[in-house]
Amino acid sequence: MKNIPNPWKFNQDVSLEYESHVLKHIPLYNKTIDYCLDFASENTTHNSRILDFGCATGCTLRKFKSKGWSNLWGVDKSSDMFKHNQDGVIKYSTTLVDQYYSLSLVNWTLHFCDNKWDILDKILSLSTWVILSEKTLESTELKNEYYSWKQAQGCTLEEIKAKERSLREMMWLNDPKDYLTYPVEKIVHSQFGFYTFLIKGDNEIS
Ligand SMILES: C[S@@+](CC[C@H](N)C(=O)[O-])C[C@H]1O[C@@H](n2cnc3c(N)ncnc32)[C@H](O)[C@@H]1O
Repeated sequence: MKNIPNPWKFNQDVSLEYESHVLKHIPLYNKTIDYCLDFASENTTHNSRILDFGCATGCTLRKFKSKGWSNLWGVDKSSDMFKHNQDGVIKYSTTLVDQYYSLSLVNWTLHFCDNKWDILDKILSLSTWVILSEKTLESTELKNEYYSWKQAQGCTLEEIKAKERSLREMMWLNDPKDYLTYPVEKIVHSQFGFYTFLIKGDNEIS
């Protein structure tokens, strides 16, 4: 991405490059989305209601749609991210619709929310299952490994530093152990301080 907004913004320019951008910046991106699809295949039906909180352009929900799910709900605070992707099937909104979800995905979004625990409590209260991916506090060693990985994906050092500066005041990172205070069924995987958790929600209806 040539012009990294500073401070970072999920705006229309970012939405246009979003899908290639995440592959260079989020470790285990495709592996995580594949896990979400596999988990949904085993634990939901194609009519089950699926939420993607922080859905960005709706790219994950479109994968669900292409595999047969039709009750798909996307929430993103920034309508610039999804407004050009409306397709009449995926229901987008900027706020969470208060209803039950069989599976809620909350991937790489809560670390942008200063009220993350309130949001997670609310989503857990509405969901049977939650798959949560988060960037967590990292040691200098992990950060160096992460930056080497980004360079291997084609990011320049200049881009990496610009992105770090742009995100400086808008990320709330926690120790991975903080997430274990929730009913975590398993840690799905982790790399460079990015964790994916499978969490049991409070809503048993699926
Ligand atoms: C890194 S992207 C999410 C990635 C996406 N879940 C995926 O699987 O590709 C973070 C998204 O969270 C959204 N976001 C940030 N704060 C939010 C909030 N409080 N409520 C809903 N969405 C939010 C941003 O607009 C952005 O589109």
